[in-house]
Amino acid sequence: MERHIQTLLNRVSFISITLATFTLFYLLLQTPQTCLPIHHPHQRTRTQKPTRFPSSTCDLNHRNYLSLTQKNKKLYSSKPWLSQVTSYSNFFAQLKNLNLLENSSRVLCVSAGAGHEVEALKGSGVADVIGVEVVDSAPLVSRADPHNLPFFDDVFDLGYSGHLAEALFPLRFAGELERTVRSGGVVVVVMEECGANDVNEIMGLFRKTKFVSAVNVTLIGKKMTRIIMQVDKPS
Ligand SMILES: *[C@@H]1O[C@H](CO)[C@@H](O)[C@H](O)[C@H]1NC(C)=O
Ligand SMILES: *[C@@H]1O[C@H](CO)[C@@H](O)[C@H](O)[C@H]1NC(C)=O
Repeated sequence: MERHIQTLLNRVSFISITLATFTLFYLLLQTPQTCLPIHHPHQRTRTQKPTRFPSSTCDLNHRNYLSLTQKNKKLYSSKPWLSQVTSYSNFFAQLKNLNLLENSSRVLCVSAGAGHEVEALKGSGVADVIGVEVVDSAPLVSRADPHNLPFFDDVFDLGYSGHLAEALFPLRFAGELERTVRSGGVVVVVMEECGANDVNEIMGLFRKTKFVSAVNVTLIGKKMTRIIMQVDKPS
């Protein structure tokens, strides 16, 4: 090999080694960003947008965990929540107009989801409202199995559910509504808009109620059928 080529190659090697060494030192002196919490106590505010998804298991960056109160505050001020609650308020106002619901009524909402109807009832002045769902949503909805309600017989004046049609055991679900609502009280169920045949099928699930009415209504923007029954238990 020619001498000057040899010299050139040696130089290239030397430069490469030097560069590599410096890079290595630089990397060693750098602390990995993902492993250190960033401390800017004066800059971090509540309104800061959530930090990104952890890029590694040693990512100690602070993330804002919302407490239940904060979560609820956010939910209860959201547009969908407010509009649905308003819709339920109108729905229950109709029941008040029909003299089926009063401020003093004890009301049970079964399969109440996040509690829109509970909030609507409370907002309209009905103080004694209990909402239950398979998963609780404090403070509006408690956890209970709709097929095995943790309440004594005849303790409610009105039982409401918008989810009888989706119940795992509709007969059992209906039976529990009948059991917990007092004789003379009412059961109100709402389902996707349906005709007389479906209404009859629903009525067939209730053994201790008399049919009062079935009308088409609009609730939370959907076309629904509202069935009202009066509980009639032999004493
Ligand atoms: C029920 O309560 C609401 C809200 O407090 C009130 O505006 C309404 O007048 C009450 N209705 C009756 C019949 O007392
Ligand atoms: C609701 O409306 C649908 C469609 O117009 C109709 O077929 C059904 O009979 C109505 N149901 C009741 C209970 O009036």
